[in-house]
Amino acid sequence: MGVVKRCHAVISLSAFRANLHQARETLAGDAKLMVAIKSEAYGHGGVELARAAVEAGADALAVLDIAQGKILRGVDSSIPLLCWLHSPTSDFAGAAEARLDVGISGVWQLELLREQAPGLATRVHLKIDTGLHRNGALPELWPELVRRAAELEKEGHINVVAIWSHLADTSLEEDRSSLQRFHDAVAIAREGGLTPEMLHIAASAAAAELPETRLDLVRIGIIAYGVSPFDDRSAQELGFQPVMAVHARVLSHSSDGTQATLGMGFGDGLLPPLTSDGWVSHGGVRFGIDSVEADHMVISAHAGSALPALGDSVTLWGDPAGTSPRAEDWASWAGTIGDEVVASVAQHVPRRFIEQIPTAE
Ligand SMILES: Cc1ncc(COP(=O)(O)O)c(C=O)c1O
Repeated sequence: MGVVKRCHAVISLSAFRANLHQARETLAGDAKLMVAIKSEAYGHGGVELARAAVEAGADALAVLDIAQGKILRGVDSSIPLLCWLHSPTSDFAGAAEARLDVGISGVWQLELLREQAPGLATRVHLKIDTGLHRNGALPELWPELVRRAAELEKEGHINVVAIWSHLADTSLEEDRSSLQRFHDAVAIAREGGLTPEMLHIAASAAAAELPETRLDLVRIGIIAYGVSPFDDRSAQELGFQPVMAVHARVLSHSSDGTQATLGMGFGDGLLPPLTSDGWVSHGGVRFGIDSVEADHMVISAHAGSALPALGDSVTLWGDPAGTSPRAEDWASWAGTIGDEVVASVAQHVPRRFIEQIPTAE
């Protein structure tokens, strides 16, 4: 059994790379593939997954902020690395030094960039808000952002390489309207003298559902990790396989032999099911989840089946053979999305990175 851990996650780098090939074939088409590595690669492990993405031929990587971008620059010295969430204390000088691409949503960000990194022609992706209201310039502020960006570009401080946005993915109709608003904003930018070489708006869901949103580049996040962005279709149905499998050890049995305690709880990032449907698996047999506590969970055997033995490793989700639940099942039990299930796994839970497809343990 080696070192006994209460719980651990097995991360299949080969499954991730296979998913990126699948994304290129089925989601990107002729567009470039940017892989979102934000939130420590949705809880999988930022540096390791960034390296695997580069190996799999990703054209670009996306992380949330400059601090994460600087870390991932160590993985590859030249791949475009986009970061887009900034604050007044953001290190734009560091971004320029690490040759990061910065997403810019407001004039104040442009001014900070100019102050901290003058004359360095930092690569900028100018962002328009097309309805999500999370980031990006509001349409009424867009002409001023374009005007100032064109000025700073002429003065050699920035190089506007792209215009982009992010879709709400609430309905196809809403995404189509956002795409129209995006093209209107691009027209304003071109009239204002900008000559972006790339337009991008689609993440996993729109790239799958609305090919006209793929434009020059798609930003693929959760589906690359084998977790579906849809309620009505699994990632497997779309040709993607789970990258993360999570296992917990049997720590004890109840005195009447009906329940077992497993070494993973909500303090380890497990999302407690809100329904009684939750289950885990061991050796192809299902065990019901009775409760999730701070550092452990309690399971019970269905009538007629024996509990797993002390020290056995039980699979919570991610068995590629499909005998365990999927991250999406935990999401439906907890009333959330699969992104939250995988990204919530605490950083102290050991990750074991493997090259092959994981097997049941
Ligand atoms: C700006 C941006 N692009 C791309 C993605 C990837 O999205 P998804 O995980 O739905 O593919 C995200 C994720 O939230 C994002 O914020």
